[in-house]
Amino acid sequence: MGVQMFGIEKLLTENHSKQVDTRCAAPRSPLAYILWALRGLGAPVGILAVVAFALAIAEIVVYRQVGSLIDRAENGEVTRFFADNIVFLTLLAGIIVIAKPGIVFLQSLLSSVIVGPQSFALSLGRSHATALGYPMAFFDRSSAGLVTQKQLQAASALAMVVSIGLNALIPLVAFSLAMALTLASAHLLLALVAVTWILAYSLVLRYLLPGIRKTSVRRAEERALVGGTLTDTFANIRAVKQYDHHGAESRHIADRLRAWRTVATGYGREVTILRTTLALLSAMGTAIIIGSALYLWRDNAASLGVVAAAAAMALRLSTMLNTAAFNLLTFFSEWGTIENALDVLAHPHDLPEPVSTKEPVGAGSIEIRNVSFTCRVSGQDRLREVNLEICPGEKIGIVGLSGAGKSTLLSTLLRFDDATSGVVLLDGVDIRDIRKSDLRQQITVVGHDPGLFDRSALENIRYGRPDASDREVFLAARRACADEFIRHLVDTDGREGYAARLGERGVALSQGQRQRIAIARALLADTPVLALDEATSALDLETENRVLDGVMDAAEAKTVLIVSHRPSTLTKVDRVLEMQSGRIVAANCFDKSRTHKREPLAPLRRITC
Ligand SMILES: Nc1ncnc2c1ncn2[C@@H]1O[C@H](COP(=O)(O)OP(=O)(O)O)[C@@H](O)[C@H]1O
Ligand SMILES: [Mg+2]
Repeated sequence: MGVQMFGIEKLLTENHSKQVDTRCAAPRSPLAYILWALRGLGAPVGILAVVAFALAIAEIVVYRQVGSLIDRAENGEVTRFFADNIVFLTLLAGIIVIAKPGIVFLQSLLSSVIVGPQSFALSLGRSHATALGYPMAFFDRSSAGLVTQKQLQAASALAMVVSIGLNALIPLVAFSLAMALTLASAHLLLALVAVTWILAYSLVLRYLLPGIRKTSVRRAEERALVGGTLTDTFANIRAVKQYDHHGAESRHIADRLRAWRTVATGYGREVTILRTTLALLSAMGTAIIIGSALYLWRDNAASLGVVAAAAAMALRLSTMLNTAAFNLLTFFSEWGTIENALDVLAHPHDLPEPVSTKEPVGAGSIEIRNVSFTCRVSGQDRLREVNLEICPGEKIGIVGLSGAGKSTLLSTLLRFDDATSGVVLLDGVDIRDIRKSDLRQQITVVGHDPGLFDRSALENIRYGRPDASDREVFLAARRACADEFIRHLVDTDGREGYAARLGERGVALSQGQRQRIAIARALLADTPVLALDEATSALDLETENRVLDGVMDAAEAKTVLIVSHRPSTLTKVDRVLEMQSGRIVAANCFDKSRTHKREPLAPLRRITC
């Protein structure tokens, strides 16, 4: 268990100490990425490499010694063979019966029990943790299915690359080197043939493998797109069923599969050419080595033992090379898979953490100065010179047509989107000087999407503040009017109330119930600033009223921003702003004579820029 867990435990420590988040992106070259993903696994990987090397050398030693045994048998007295060679035979038996199985055991243990599972877990865990730190813009333009698919593909590809590298390629290199040296000690001609053979093999690989790697990258992309499309279909299964688009969806996936098949077939053709060329080379190499050894023996330049050892080694190397062809193909295809996934694995964290950090005092005052935000991809101005001052504890309503920039304004507060120009100050501190984790402990935004996990109601609410007690969770749920339906929840496994799971994205709940859970979570987070972005839009008027009363109760001293289209919601705020095309175009002044929240606000006045 201890051995099984150490990689994952290490990951948890890394995440806990925020090493991954602040480290920014992973390296962008495949080799550097593999080394980065395997950090912490150096010792077992190193030992495994040495063991694999040793195993290949042990094999050569055995072949060579069996050759000398034949020479001894041929030249010595037959009846005294065992007595004369007792030490030699014992050593040889020791190598064959004890050392080799022992090394195989060690190799297998390290490879299958430690390095294999750990490399998969470490690389997937690290890529997941790093991806959590990518900017929101990355997730806005990448489908969740594609990101998941690429992370999974890359993790299994990485485990495969490591396994093949250690278990097949290192032994092959070691075996080839040791064989060349052993043959050189018997006769230089044999060594020359072996070296030419290995060089020819390497040349063919060098010529054909880069093309195969490139095709693998494309094949991995097409495969990930197939996976992404499958996920997208099932994520929107309601729409598929509603519009009875089973046929269209099948055609859609068939188009993707056809694109994948075209690339996969091209890959298959390249593979066939490579494997056939290598098989031919391997057969020729074996024949030439055995032929040369026999030729030398005929001319008394080599003993029978040398012929036997050379033949055994050549046959073994030929088998190894045939397997190696297959292994190398897999190695390079998997390498291509990792290369293809690097856009997802090693995306830059383009909102760097500040060098010197400052902490806001937690009062909740916000000042937005000349903030503009232009979309980097489309060039669209989503915010234009927005200026706004909000006092601690003020309650602000934001209205405006859909697409006016209300959600974008709230995103800039959390630095989900960084303003292109201008500054946002929280309690007088530029939010770019506040660590992201600190900033998000100051401001909570409940967005359009409630963001529910397929976990229990309790866990979903506690997500707002993991150290909150059960009582605090229940209180937040009551204030958000969520307690009343949570108590009656029963999930498909019979778990009840707060223990009931909510299903993927809260599928087991109505939209209004999901929104109330999201609000309960935000209330529990208890930050000085709370923003509700159309967060009660799915509730009936009466429930919305009760939820907002609960929110205002809990957030009496907090700064609250409410984006809403409903006039009833806006009776609870001190001030209303109207947005249009990325600007604040109208506002009503704070009316000191308005003593009760239910009294109407002063009418909106247009702001002239
Ligand atoms: N993730 C996004 N990527 C690119 N453009 C976006 C994104 N989200 C919103 N927009 C664009 O930004 C503008 C403002 O959107 P938004 O702030 O969501 O408006 P509102 O919340 O007022 O309805 C819209 O024109 C919209 O098309
Ligand atoms: Mg919006």
